[in-house]
Amino acid sequence: MAYSEKLLDHYENPRNVGAMSKDDGQVGTGMVGAPACGDVMKLQIRVNDDGVIEDAKFKTYGCGSAIASSSLVTEWVKGKTLDQAMEIKNTAIAEELALPPVKIHCSILAEDAIKAAVADYRAKHGAMTETDACKGSC
Ligand code: FES
Repeated sequence: MAYSEKLLDHYENPRNVGAMSKDDGQVGTGMVGAPACGDVMKLQIRVNDDGVIEDAKFKTYGCGSAIASSSLVTEWVKGKTLDQAMEIKNTAIAEELALPPVKIHCSILAEDAIKAAVADYRAKHGAMTETDACKGSC
């Protein structure tokens, strides 16, 4: 199978590999698995007080396309708001990396990981807002 140069570059020199503390209130963690192959991807985002993603890290136990997809999206989400990050589609990832059809599910994993990380961050902050709202009144 012929892989694109971009895919090979992200696979051989993955960006932003690593982890952040999932207990950090500014960090959202998404952990997703692909039923088709059993590969697992963990994506973390650090969100600043303006709601902008300022850092992202990933760890992927999976195929080269999954590693390249997660490396690519850590670059894409930086500087985006949560809503903008939620708009990243697997089709854009697949197109950027020129993934072959059998590897499309690897890019779906990356899209799902972003959504899970944003949901985790929002869940943390939704809970915090309720607590704040109760201060003094409940
Ligand atoms: Fe499953 Fe790539 S083969 S994530």
